Amino acid sequence: MSTIDAAFLDELRARTPIAPLIGRRVKLSRSGRNWKGCCPFHGEKTPSFYVYDDHYHCFGCGVHGDVITFVMETEGKSFPDAVESLAAEAGLEVPKATPQARAQAVRARTLGDVLEAAQRLWSYALHQPEGRTGLDYLRKRGLTDETIAAFGLGWASDKRGALVSALREQNIMPEALAEAGLMSTDEEGRPKGELFWGRVTFPIRDRRGDLVSFGGRILGDRQPKYLNGPETALFSKRRLLFGLDRARAAIRAPRPKGAPPVDAVVVEGYMDVIALHQAGFPGAVAPLGTALTPEQLETLWQVAPSPILCFDGDTAGRRAAIKAAETALPLLSTERGLRFCMLPEGEDPDSLSRTKGRVAVAQLFAGARPLADVLFDLLAEGTPQNPTPEQRATLRSRLVEAAGKIADKSLAGEYRSSLLDRFFQTYRGRKGGKPGKNGSAFTPPAGPVTPDAPLDGTAAKLTLLTGLILRYPRLIGSVADAWCQLDLPPGLAELRSAVLDGTASGTMFDDHPDEDTVFTRMMDMLGQQGLRPRAEALIRTACIKKPGKQVDDGLMESPPEVLWWHFYASANRAAFEADIARDTEAWTREGLDPAQWDRLKLRIEALASLRRLEDGSY
Ligand code: UTP
Ligand code: MN
Repeated sequence: MSTIDAAFLDELRARTPIAPLIGRRVKLSRSGRNWKGCCPFHGEKTPSFYVYDDHYHCFGCGVHGDVITFVMETEGKSFPDAVESLAAEAGLEVPKATPQARAQAVRARTLGDVLEAAQRLWSYALHQPEGRTGLDYLRKRGLTDETIAAFGLGWASDKRGALVSALREQNIMPEALAEAGLMSTDEEGRPKGELFWGRVTFPIRDRRGDLVSFGGRILGDRQPKYLNGPETALFSKRRLLFGLDRARAAIRAPRPKGAPPVDAVVVEGYMDVIALHQAGFPGAVAPLGTALTPEQLETLWQVAPSPILCFDGDTAGRRAAIKAAETALPLLSTERGLRFCMLPEGEDPDSLSRTKGRVAVAQLFAGARPLADVLFDLLAEGTPQNPTPEQRATLRSRLVEAAGKIADKSLAGEYRSSLLDRFFQTYRGRKGGKPGKNGSAFTPPAGPVTPDAPLDGTAAKLTLLTGLILRYPRLIGSVADAWCQLDLPPGLAELRSAVLDGTASGTMFDDHPDEDTVFTRMMDMLGQQGLRPRAEALIRTACIKKPGKQVDDGLMESPPEVLWWHFYASANRAAFEADIARDTEAWTREGLDPAQWDRLKLRIEALASLRRLEDGSY
């Protein structure tokens, strides 16, 4: 038997996702929520080797094991060597196999025995006269006898010392009780008093179903309402979730054809988990009186790709939701999502399933929204409908910061742009107080564009030319070359290179988007680089509809291309005329392809309107 600490091995297994590890040697493909591939341990052509959340099994040759045995088998390593190499990869240090550690391993087994002895005593007592009040309480709360038995609920006598004396008869001493987390200790670590008395007891089991601790609820309104066992060699509140063993089994169990998958649902309390199981939601789990930890999220994701987190509809619930979102963000990936379910105010899943029934709860869960959707609402909470510039800036940086916490780069980009979209939709896209529709939130001036800045001065013209492209990104197709040749000041040049980079890939114009869609995509792309405010300011300067003397009235109705060439020409007259002359010559000599011809025609029109303007013929 290994002398490596069992808790450490658990941690190592939890920190080493099995599918990627095996995926390095075996080509795996999805099979429902599992993976399959050709067995590396016997030759086969059709896959019968399955990888589950924490183990593999081959239905061809029968091999079976976890991450550690996989490394042992495929790399010919001994157990300690396999552990050592996996630990190094996971950034963990293998605890030294000291005599103390060995003693602790033995003790861990006996701690489990101690807990089981208490469990037998308490679950028996619930059905004795002394436990009557406890049993009545549970029944009054709507639990069936089957549920009470399935969860092993019990009764810890209100006579203090009852547990100690009952277990002493089984040769289990107070020191062992203290170590198992059933007794408190004084400063010297000596057992002081029993923790659980006069309470309904809730056995807490680990993912495999081994008993690791207890929770206890007092009857009536006395405090504290719930007690949870302390951290012990067996029990880590950080990692464990109440109900995980049953939820995991239910989620993994084969389903009848057509039956919907079992959702993993995180609720707040013991009673919520139990009530949901009873109501037919066996994927329910709860943290143990603390906020959801990163370790618990990791544990959940090993069981389900997108668990549902439930929160109360009140302020505290929303605060808890924000906290959970913040914990989750760095850990998200395309394969690891979350859904949020806000409960009606004043209700918890326990009360809901009893008063509103199973269908109402099912509908609530079905309506759970992905984190990406709720994150904006959570972060925007408290920002008024008409925020001041300071409040707007604060929210905006909060959004960008939240997206930035996502380690997965491309996912972070998606979050950032969808959060900023919502931001502009909510706070800029209003007309007459109505919230903006989706699509571009920043509503650019519609229709013909004319500058409100004086047109003389090259700087103003360069601003206009760049602003027009930002507003009508499709222009790039015909003006990019000319635009690139302009000597832009640094601020505009930075925008230009972002635009050119962003459009180079071509996806901006995928699926034949309409003008607004292209504009939205352009703004999102610039938003991801933090250039959106500058771009918007530029568009506002360049595209405000406010006819000025400088501009030909006829231009007001012109398509953006003509406008662009018009301003280009006026900024760059000599080069522009030479350019047109050259292309016209080429056209007469050898013809142009349709795109070149269109481009030439636009420039000729622009030049013509420019000349008319100079002639004063309007
Ligand atoms: P709640 O106070 O929401 O209780 O605590 P509940 O689950 O609805 O319980 P009932 O319905 O009144 O019986 C939620 C969870 O917070 C932890 C427990 O894990 C509880 O299930 N808690 C609560 C404590 O650890 N100590 C407490 O005193 C109260
Ligand atoms: Mn409750």
